[in-house]
Amino acid sequence: MEQIVNLAKRRGFVFPASEIYGGLNSCWDYGPLGVELKRNIKDAWWRSMVHTRRDVVGLDSAVLQHPQVWRTSGHVDNFSDPLVDCRKCKARFRADDLDNASCGERHKPIDDDCRKHFTEPRAFNLMFKTHLGPIEGEGSVAFLRPETAQGIFTNYLNVQTTARLKPPFGVAQIGKSFRNEITPGNFIFRTREFEQMEMEYFVPPAEWQKWFDYWRDERFRWYVDLGIAPDRLRRRDHDQTELAHYSNATTDIEYLFPIGWKELEGVASRTDFDLRRHSEASGKQLEYFDGQTRERFQPWVVEPAAGVDRAMLAFLVEAYEEQALPGGGAAEAGAEGKGNGKGEDDVRTVLHLHPRLAPIKVAIFPLVKKDGMPEMANALEDRLRKQGLSTFYDQSGAIGRRYRRQDEVGTPWCVTVDGDSVKEGTVTVRDRDSMVQERVPAADLPAMFAARLGA
Ligand code: GAP
Repeated sequence: MEQIVNLAKRRGFVFPASEIYGGLNSCWDYGPLGVELKRNIKDAWWRSMVHTRRDVVGLDSAVLQHPQVWRTSGHVDNFSDPLVDCRKCKARFRADDLDNASCGERHKPIDDDCRKHFTEPRAFNLMFKTHLGPIEGEGSVAFLRPETAQGIFTNYLNVQTTARLKPPFGVAQIGKSFRNEITPGNFIFRTREFEQMEMEYFVPPAEWQKWFDYWRDERFRWYVDLGIAPDRLRRRDHDQTELAHYSNATTDIEYLFPIGWKELEGVASRTDFDLRRHSEASGKQLEYFDGQTRERFQPWVVEPAAGVDRAMLAFLVEAYEEQALPGGGAAEAGAEGKGNGKGEDDVRTVLHLHPRLAPIKVAIFPLVKKDGMPEMANALEDRLRKQGLSTFYDQSGAIGRRYRRQDEVGTPWCVTVDGDSVKEGTVTVRDRDSMVQERVPAADLPAMFAARLGA
């Protein structure tokens, strides 16, 4: 984890928020490469959940909703973690997560001696409160949403009728959620402000199990398709005591993070809980009515709910490798410098990110800063950028070093423009993972990269 955090800071993926003022506990800002990686994760999700399907549409609902939404959804009463205080070291812990907690004084795992000083657990509601308007009072209280899902339930009729949808159909949403976590931490794994990618899939009640199984498998496959090894992913069913107040069945998709097996995404059957409760509280019939068959029913909901930041951490962890290169990476021969340039054994840090997720798709290097090479490389970069590819132009340092800088941020392809390129119009394309170089006509690059990205 430390290596990932260091790389993320050093190369501009993630910075501590408010760093110049000493930072703010577990708050993070995403830098130039982090923001691209996050966008690519969200785009891959949207493509798989919305654009490639006929049965799912999108929504972007407000972070601030009527306070009644959170009373009806059960979040005011139930969305809490058990909190204990230590009277001795003054630290606060989640009573249900003491195995992972450290004493505030000794900075060691808590033991029976610590437990003697604990208060009785009390429920701590995780919703952030704020006030609407200039006067702070009970009447102006509002909550920052702790999940994006409720905006989908409250818009159920708007979406169903305007998009003319018949169950089974889904409504997808990506956006920020906020939880006042008692113990945030482990970099971007658990934070108080984070992004979610959620989809509520409305189904005929009798079909909930079929769709629950379907989405559990689909979502597992999505991570595998984007490069996560199946043996570092697993499905874990919630037992009865663990189920959220709205769910009759939930399976977590877990990833083997450096901190152990942890939830990456939850797939929940939410029954008709949310639509029924909002229907009762608002007096609006949140049902499906078929004008032709006169059929009327309240759909059940299956919800795959993923975290963008947590997915990003998993993809970074999975992609990270410190790879030994005997002889300093002699395979890089043919493009001037060899690995570390000295022929000594070397180690390269490489992110084997799926090309679709990589923040930079193509790096372009003129071999030297003369003889028309920078001009040709610049023109090539402009062309690829116009095609919509994120590119990076680099003309400083030995070519081997330039490759290393790109390996470290996961750039799948590096294009080198050399003397022959200027004369013959061909360039070398070097593959990040195999380090193999091939010579291709420069004119073929746009089509070649489009094909490799499956665009
Ligand atoms: N609507 C259901 C729901 O919100 P959840 O399991 O509480 O379910 C879904 O959250 C996903 O959101 C989690 O699997 C995780 O990826 C992400 N998530 C939840 N809390 C988070 C936090 N404090 N920091 C980062 N990601 C979080």
